[in-house]
Amino acid sequence: MKVTIVGAGAVGASCAQYIAVKNFASEVVIVDIKENYAEGKAMDLMQTSSLMGFDTKITGSTNDYSKTANSDIAVVTSGIPRKPGMTREELIGINAGIVKSVTENLIKHSPNVILIIVSNPMDTMAYLAHKTTGLPKNRIIGMGGALDSARFKYRLAEALGCPTSDVDGMVIGGHSDKGMIPLSSFAVRNSLPVSTFLSKERIQQVVEDTKVGGATLTKMLGTSAWYAPGSAVSELVKAIALDSKKMFPCSALLEGEYGLNDISIGVPCILGKNGIEKIVELELTEAEKTKLHESAAAVKKTNGLLD
Ligand code: LAC
Repeated sequence: MKVTIVGAGAVGASCAQYIAVKNFASEVVIVDIKENYAEGKAMDLMQTSSLMGFDTKITGSTNDYSKTANSDIAVVTSGIPRKPGMTREELIGINAGIVKSVTENLIKHSPNVILIIVSNPMDTMAYLAHKTTGLPKNRIIGMGGALDSARFKYRLAEALGCPTSDVDGMVIGGHSDKGMIPLSSFAVRNSLPVSTFLSKERIQQVVEDTKVGGATLTKMLGTSAWYAPGSAVSELVKAIALDSKKMFPCSALLEGEYGLNDISIGVPCILGKNGIEKIVELELTEAEKTKLHESAAAVKKTNGLLD
């Protein structure tokens, strides 16, 4: 199992670190445009291998995609991150060009690769990858929902005063402050609906805090977060690498599911060795359906800026 990560910034390096520490991949290649940067990150990480107990070989490359040849999975984190006060959508101009050229380079050297798109605005970047690469739709996965769901579970556990291991929950819709839809009606603490323990108002607070999860951290850190994004990517990569059939909300190209077409947006997906092996259609309430369609309209508006 060979995994390429494009972008050696904080998110890319965290992806590499978590993938290595989980010790399921034989090789991780980090690529960056900055001279020696990916090589440096790779060396630093490799020097943790005896301490952390992993055998994954991590190497770096300054924009030489021949080093990524025959990758099974490639994670695209390149582009600029948002600064405090910026929306993810504002990054489109610069990031669209970067994502287009990076994905072309990746496919040239790894024609069978499965792409995981992280660059923002993520749903639009995943859609762009579908349009420009023409890869089968199971092989392009946008990473947003796995991260947003982790943030939802964190906020739920905080409200419940319990560990996150007691909690399950899912966020669907666009990976944006306004567009994401934490599905509180499906959220459970140890199989009991969270409404057993929390008031409507407290659940609404959890939902609002989850939606601005990324923006809150951007304000605190001065740039976009990296530990939870990197960790979420590593779980998607692991599910594909181990063919585990685990379910995560991912940005998938829809062709009629949820009444939506020609859009990549967050919906529950079963991941295995073929990438997205199945899109799961939930029975949503009318209110949730309306929210999903509103979220889709906003993503389509951003997609329209690609032309
Ligand atoms: C975030 C970025 C990765 O939500 O979109 O932190």
